[in-house]
Amino acid sequence: MLPARVVGSSSVPSTMPLYTHSSVAPQGLLRVEGFSLPALAVCFVLGALACTPEDHERPRDGFPERLDRLAPDLAELPSYEPAFPLWTNGADKRRFVQTPDGTPAHPGAIPVGTLFFKQFAYDGVVIETRVIRVGESGPEYAVYVHEDGSALGARRMAPDGVREVPVVFEGETFSHVIPHETQCAACHEAGMGPVLGFTAPQLAVHEPEQDEDDDERAALERDVTGYVQGNCVHCHNGSGVPGASFDMRSEVFVANTVGMPTTGSASAAGLRVVPGDPEASVLYQAFVARQPAAPMPPLGVQRRDQQTAALVHAWIESL
Ligand code: HEC
Ligand code: HEC
Repeated sequence: MLPARVVGSSSVPSTMPLYTHSSVAPQGLLRVEGFSLPALAVCFVLGALACTPEDHERPRDGFPERLDRLAPDLAELPSYEPAFPLWTNGADKRRFVQTPDGTPAHPGAIPVGTLFFKQFAYDGVVIETRVIRVGESGPEYAVYVHEDGSALGARRMAPDGVREVPVVFEGETFSHVIPHETQCAACHEAGMGPVLGFTAPQLAVHEPEQDEDDDERAALERDVTGYVQGNCVHCHNGSGVPGASFDMRSEVFVANTVGMPTTGSASAAGLRVVPGDPEASVLYQAFVARQPAAPMPPLGVQRRDQQTAALVHAWIESL
């Protein structure tokens, strides 16, 4: 197998201007603090060179332009791992939490001002870091892009548009799409959030349940149900808020899917799960992004999770 690698983001066909660190005027020649009128005039004269974000440190929406201004070194913060992580193209993720006074965080009582960080990497090449701040009146979001692939030195994504980073990973070529800050609410504010992975059930220690008479079907069902908790339930929780859909929480997952017709106006007609027939099951079709079902999850995945597709297939076949 070819060694996995990540293509440098300089070849990004981006919908937004790239941050061109290397083309910045020599340090000390010119430092623009905010965009004051004289600074703008200088920008105009020197062209974009003097006006890259390298020199522009003004916070936007309360978040600084540089990640290290928020946390100098994420690796020094407490980290955690949810029991049922969200799949994102197979990327490695690291998650950190920082309370305002540095005391340990507890899922039951998260103080205002707490920061959550989630960093995405492929084979050690860091792509992006997403941040949620627990605000007075709801969550605040920021996304930082790691232009050089290193953990340090990330800059806030420009306010206009998503960003595609070409990646070669595990022998597959695809674009890792960095979502825009306006897309976070689709998952983080659809009835379960805002914090989705730092919750009591996600942090509980899940001992692998091994029943004496545990059969293969039960084991498959448990694995599928767990996966769904981490990857679907933030929207599929039956809460009725905008963006939410039918309930797939563990207690009702089987009852609401097996032999149940679809209800969503936006999706294919049929049964969510046809016992014994994965190919005819809308849930499976949606999972592998096969028409006419709308691909599920509807955002955040550019490279489908084949291993879990096989698991869902095997579970439906076993019914
Ligand atoms: C497709 C759904 C989805 C979208 C879109 C999404 N997230 Fe998340 N996010 C999740 C889920 C599910 C978790 C928890 C599981 C995990 O960490 O693997 C999570 C976890 C996080 C965490 C760790 C804290 C927590 O809630 O557990 C941060 C920080 C975060 N997301 C930031 C963002 C930001 C910023 C955006 C927008 C740019 C965003 N996310 C978009 C689903 C999503
Ligand atoms: C970002 C939110 C979101 C996520 C995450 C998400 N879905 Fe959906 N899903 C929706 C919406 C919205 C609809 C359309 C509902 C409608 O038309 O009323 C839908 C529809 C569906 C449908 C067809 C509608 C029906 O009545 O059966 C299936 C099946 C489905 N989703 C499965 C999944 C699975 C499996 C996952 C996880 C792997 C998932 N979804 C993740 C939002 C989401």
